[in-house]
Amino acid sequence: MIPLPRIDPPLINASGILSYPEVFTAFESAGACLGGYVTKSVGPREKPGNENPVVVYPPEGAVLNSLALPTQSAEDWERDLEEIKLKNAKLIVSVYGGDAGEFAGVTRRMSRFGDAIEVNLGCPNKEPGEQTIMESIGQNPALSAEVIERVRDETDKPVIAKLSPNSDYLAVAESCMNAGADALGCGNTLGPGLAVDIRSRAAILAGTTGGISGPALKPINLRMTYEAYARFRCPIVAYGGIETWEDAVEYILAGAGVLGIGTAFMRKSTHEAAALTRDIWEGIQEYLDGEPMSALIGAAHRAAEGGDSHA
Ligand SMILES: Cc1cc2nc3c(=O)[nH]c(=O)nc-3n(C[C@H](O)[C@H](O)[C@H](O)COP(=O)(O)O)c2cc1C
Repeated sequence: MIPLPRIDPPLINASGILSYPEVFTAFESAGACLGGYVTKSVGPREKPGNENPVVVYPPEGAVLNSLALPTQSAEDWERDLEEIKLKNAKLIVSVYGGDAGEFAGVTRRMSRFGDAIEVNLGCPNKEPGEQTIMESIGQNPALSAEVIERVRDETDKPVIAKLSPNSDYLAVAESCMNAGADALGCGNTLGPGLAVDIRSRAAILAGTTGGISGPALKPINLRMTYEAYARFRCPIVAYGGIETWEDAVEYILAGAGVLGIGTAFMRKSTHEAAALTRDIWEGIQEYLDGEPMSALIGAAHRAAEGGDSHA
């Protein structure tokens, strides 16, 4: 297995939120405590995604998005990534495609820019007439393995298989690990879910349904992290409703070594988002009280097994 690069501090943005190169540079100037940046998922070709509205903020602590993977062309990504100069932070390139060959093609072009490649197996949004990645690949262990195998052949960088919570994710994870993944991403958005406008009496999102992220997703992806760590004891990058240092510590205790922040950055300026990363990192460090973070990763399992909890 190829180890993940040292991501220090172990905080990153989640793909799709503040995830273009010019924002990474702005984050650095704003003093963000992010040890790595993840690009918006790069696909085989430019894709407009759905019309607005593509995001809804229902009051229940969930966010719904139906962006359907809008992305600039691979040529534009190459130009932008060629230019980016990060001081210390690592760059993770997120990739997607419609089939294993497309995933491989994008990885071939993007591999030289990334310190790691994150494979998006779980986006639950679609443009009209499309099948989602989650439906076409991420819920199928054999097809997910084929994608990882082809991606593995195209890069010498560590490969993170980012799972869908809407799947038999341990079966998918097992196939991905056997196919050469080095780490698991736990995980993408849930659903999709629905929001209805009671005045217009219609679905709010232009794509009708949308992937669920934010606080409502946390217990689900936390469980995925816990179960994946119990089964594979592999490096885990966790995503889902991380808004505070306490959320981050829960994921670390469940088994995550890197924490991704997505929805908590939405509706914030780069400066506000950078301040949030500082608060989260300070809180984690105070909680650690001098202990190395490695001692805490997966500690909830040791507690469950009757061992030292370090808590
Ligand atoms: C607006 C939006 C766009 C997203 N785009 C992507 C994407 O391009 N690729 C991907 O792998 N995940 C994407 N995601 C999923 C996030 O990376 C993350 O896994 C998920 O939102 C859970 O984390 P959060 O609750 O902190 O947002 C997107 C999520 C949102 C809300």
